[in-house]
Amino acid sequence: MMKCCFPLRRRTLLAVILLLVVFLVLPPAGVAAPRPLASFDPQVKALLTRMTLEEKIGQMTQPDQSFLKDPADIENYFLGSVLSGGNSDPKAGNSLQAWTDLYDQLQAHSQKTRLRIPLLYGVDAVHGHNNVLGAVVFPHNIGLGCTRDAALVEEVARITAEEVRATGINWAFAPCVTVPQDERWGRTYEGFSEDPRLVRRLGAAAVRGFQGGDLADPLSVLACAKHYLGDGGTAFGSAKRPNLLDQGDTRVDEATLRRIHLPGYLSTVRAGVGSIMPSYSSWNGVKCSADKYLLTDLLKRQLGFQGFLISDYNAIDQITNDYRKCIEISINAGMDMVMVPDHYREFFTDLRDLVNDGKVPMARIDDAVTRILRVKFALGLMDTNRSLFADRGLWASFGSPAHRAVARRAVRESLVLLKNEHHALPISKHTGRLVVAGKNADDLGNQCGGWTIDWQGKSGDVTPGGTTILAAIRHAVSPSTQVTFSKDGAAAAGADLGVVVIGEKPYAEFMGDRADLALAPEDVAAVKNLKAAGIPVVVILISGRPMIINDVLDEADAFIAAWLPGTEGEGVADVLFGDYKPIGKLSHSWPRSMAQIPINRGDHPYDPLFKLGFGLSY
Ligand code: GLC
Repeated sequence: MMKCCFPLRRRTLLAVILLLVVFLVLPPAGVAAPRPLASFDPQVKALLTRMTLEEKIGQMTQPDQSFLKDPADIENYFLGSVLSGGNSDPKAGNSLQAWTDLYDQLQAHSQKTRLRIPLLYGVDAVHGHNNVLGAVVFPHNIGLGCTRDAALVEEVARITAEEVRATGINWAFAPCVTVPQDERWGRTYEGFSEDPRLVRRLGAAAVRGFQGGDLADPLSVLACAKHYLGDGGTAFGSAKRPNLLDQGDTRVDEATLRRIHLPGYLSTVRAGVGSIMPSYSSWNGVKCSADKYLLTDLLKRQLGFQGFLISDYNAIDQITNDYRKCIEISINAGMDMVMVPDHYREFFTDLRDLVNDGKVPMARIDDAVTRILRVKFALGLMDTNRSLFADRGLWASFGSPAHRAVARRAVRESLVLLKNEHHALPISKHTGRLVVAGKNADDLGNQCGGWTIDWQGKSGDVTPGGTTILAAIRHAVSPSTQVTFSKDGAAAAGADLGVVVIGEKPYAEFMGDRADLALAPEDVAAVKNLKAAGIPVVVILISGRPMIINDVLDEADAFIAAWLPGTEGEGVADVLFGDYKPIGKLSHSWPRSMAQIPINRGDHPYDPLFKLGFGLSY
């Protein structure tokens, strides 16, 4: 027998490495590998050779539709894409019809250009088609992370894609595959978990849901993995005032950056994600939007990303004080399309001049446009046999009971039971009198959180078709049960049990940066008022992150972390009354105090109040 030249130990190690590479590179079992975007290059190259410099630069330019000085600018500047940012509703108002008409009107302008290259229209469909009234609003990613259910995450994204397509729109700036390391960050809830392994798995599932097995499927939308790279690892206080963390500086070595923050890109690139959004934040002092190593060497060359990079909203403007220099640096670093909501005309002329002055090579322009056109061919946009306009037949399923049923299941499975003593849960549906309290018990906007109808979200009756937790409780109990609502928890005497729903009000991005994650005094008071009535108390926390809950945990007989569940409050009642057992497991470790934040600090053993993966049932 030939003597192997490697000792057994070395052979075992090699075998393990080989298995790891295979696991990381190949798509999960049973999932077909998507068609490589570069396979469209023959058609792309044929079109590219026909394009003028202006037509190429137009493809790289993305204004916000609300800032278009004239919709005909789509023709005048050969625009390849538009977006609706968080507050960019149709001028005709916020309705399914108005959104669909807007998409069709803008797409029609693209067909009046010489080459008739269709538009990509992007929106932040980050937990449903959350800009549009009447859409199903799903739990934010922090809650989906607690389900640990990749198939469910894929289904949520697929339904989101269908409701986005009902308005004609063909691009979702999702999934966010951030790995938040400091809960004081206002975007913590946009990530699936602090654990890169969970982010890797669920990020890929979301891309499969958005993009389907074939991007050309009329129900598929282009996905966008964001924000590359290390957006969730910025140092507290490193951001430009008044931000505390958001858009700050991630100060780690490359090995740490890759270990913690890269896994969501490894898996989404492998899943065939067609676009990636570089982060506003910096890595060791260099803006991600300007970092050629990150954008080109690592992502495009080493990881083989074949799609295109879309900048964040005016993000390249932060690179230097000279806008033309910002464009030169970012495009040469590898940015392919620039989200330039309002000053798109200036961007267009500046980039054209930079190319004509030899400061941006034509080869870089051709690479950027090749990547953008690959995606447009893959989406079937260039197929002249297909309609470019919205399929209004999809309106029938928009916000439908079937879609809401999936969201309700996602709510149920996202809930994490942190405490349950004296068998407080499940609550009998035949309880004599239930008192419900807390500012978040009957507030749909608060239970949806940010990125809901408005960029920041808002309290109150934010969108039609949803169910608050109080309404769900009322629907669930028997006709003989009396349910009373008292926001501050007073007048609970004589009740059999109290449910108090507390936590955060909506916010998005840097508006959610907090130095302190203590509960609001009104929340603590509401819990104590119920407790003073001498009844069992069930606390439900509506929040975009773990908070410091020591003030109320001891008072509670049961405590549920419900995150930001969205419109389907019935999912909370399903678990309160025992129709479904709680199965959620924490996607974040739960700090005892602010002293334990940020997590994973090498300088102290981290002994959280509840560990990552904790969750009770009954
Ligand atoms: C925002 C966010 C990004 C979003 C983009 C478009 O500032 O950083 O997540 O996709 O702008 O709304």
